[in-house]
Amino acid sequence: MRVAMIGTGYVGLVSGACFSEFGHNVVCVDKDESKIAGLHQGQMPIYEPGLEDLVENNVRAERLTFTTDLTTSVKDSDVIFIAVGTPSRRGDGHADLSYVYAAAKEIADAMDGYTVVVTKSTVPVGTGREVEKIIRETRPDAEFDVVSNPEFLREGSAIEDFMRPDRVVIGTHSERAQEFMRVLYRPLFLIETPIVFTSRQSSELIKYAANTFLAAKITFINEIADLCEKVDADVHDVAKGIGLDGRIGRKFLHPGPGYGGSCFPKDTRALVSTARDSGSPLRIIETVVELNEQRKQKMAERIISAVGGDATGKTIAVLGLTFKPNTDDMRESPSLDIVPALIAAGAKVRAFDPEGMKEAKHMLEGVEWCEEEYETMPDADALVIITEWNQFRALDLERVKSLMMSPVMVDLRNVYEPTEMSNAGFHYYSIGRKSVGPTAQ
Ligand code: UGA
Repeated sequence: MRVAMIGTGYVGLVSGACFSEFGHNVVCVDKDESKIAGLHQGQMPIYEPGLEDLVENNVRAERLTFTTDLTTSVKDSDVIFIAVGTPSRRGDGHADLSYVYAAAKEIADAMDGYTVVVTKSTVPVGTGREVEKIIRETRPDAEFDVVSNPEFLREGSAIEDFMRPDRVVIGTHSERAQEFMRVLYRPLFLIETPIVFTSRQSSELIKYAANTFLAAKITFINEIADLCEKVDADVHDVAKGIGLDGRIGRKFLHPGPGYGGSCFPKDTRALVSTARDSGSPLRIIETVVELNEQRKQKMAERIISAVGGDATGKTIAVLGLTFKPNTDDMRESPSLDIVPALIAAGAKVRAFDPEGMKEAKHMLEGVEWCEEEYETMPDADALVIITEWNQFRALDLERVKSLMMSPVMVDLRNVYEPTEMSNAGFHYYSIGRKSVGPTAQ
C-alpha cells in the first residue's frame, strides 16, 4: 500500500517510519525544507529512542522517503494521513485547526483516484466532517473517504506503543475505507490487537476522553499525595493498594509536579472548550486543568520552604527540565513554571538535563547551564529533581553531600527512599511522603 504522511512531527514521523516497517511504501511530507534535508542525511528532528535505526533501515530498503512535494506524494498514494500540529489557540483553549484545514485543501487539489484521507492529528469532534466538506467543495467529483485514526503513542516509547498498541481506533462507516485500514494495520491484526471500528465522531472523542481521563488520574493521585503528607500516609502504598483493584489499574498513579508535555495540557483545555460550547461542560476536567496549573507554583513554594522560606541569594541545583524522561521535549514542562518562580524569588539556579537543554536555553532565562549533574551542585543550598532521568536515580550521595552547602534534596518524582536519604545525611522532601531529616550519626 502507498501511504503519504503529511507532517513530520512526533506523530507523523514515528507513524510513517512504523508503517514502512510494516512493509508499506511511505512518503513523509513536510513544508519545512531544513527538516526534510536533515532527514535525507539521517538527522532526526526529534529525540526518540529507536527512531533513527528504524528510519535508516526503511530508507535503505527503499520503503521510506522524505519530500517537501505534497502534490506528487498525494497523487501517488492510496492513503493520506494528516499528522500536522494542532496547537492550543491563544485565548480560548480550542485546538488551532488551521494547519489541518490547509492540508485538507492541498490534498484535495492533488488527489487522484479513490483516496482515503485519515486524520491522525488530535482533532476535536467534528473536524473529520469539516475536512470532508473542504475536500468535497474543492473537488466535487472526487472519490474519497475521510477517516479518524487517533494515535496513542507516548513520547519516549512511541515505537513500542505503535508496534504493540493496547488498541487501534478507526472511525468510519465506509466499508471501502475500512478495508484499506485493515490492510494498513494487517501486522497488528496478526498479533490480535483489538481494533475498534466506530463512527468518526466517537473516534475523535475517544482520543480526548483517553487523554483527559489519564490527566485526571494523575491529578487525583497528586491531590491524594498532598493529603498523605498531612495525615502521615505514604502515597505509594495508597497507589498500590487502590491500583491492584482491576477497575482502577496501577498505571498513571505516580505523583509528581503536575503533568506536562505536548498533549495532556493542550487536550484537556481543548475538551473543556468543546464541552462548554456543546452545552455539556466537563466540570471534572475544568478542575483538573486548574489544579495542574496551581500545582507547578506550589512545587516552587515547596522548594523555597525547603531552603528556609526565603530563596534570596540561595543557590538551587536543578536536575531534569523536560516534561518527562527520554525526550528532549520541553513543551509545557513543569520546569518552565518552577524555575522562573525560583529565580523570581531571588534564587540562583544551576541546571542540567541530558537532552532538553538545547530547547530549554530558549525558554528559560537567567539559568546557569551545566554539562553534567554534579556540576550543578557546588555550594548549593538545595538539589531539586524535576524529571526522573535514569542517570539521576543512582547519584553518589556522599559526593553530592560533599559538594553542597547544605544537604537538602527536594525530589519531585520520588526517585529516592526517605530512609535511604535520611541515613545518607540529607534533609529530604518528596511528594506524598513524610519529609525526613538526617539520622543522627
Ligand atoms: C500522552 C499519552 O500517554 C499518550 O497515550 C498519547 O498518545 C499522547 O499523550 C498524545 O496524545 O499524543 P505523552 O504526552 O508522551 O503521552 O506522555 P505521558 O507518558 O503520558 O506523560 C504525560 C505527563 O504526565 C508527563 O508530564 C508525566 O511526567 C506525567 N505523569 C505520567 C505523571 O505525573 N504521573 C504518571 O503516573 C504518569
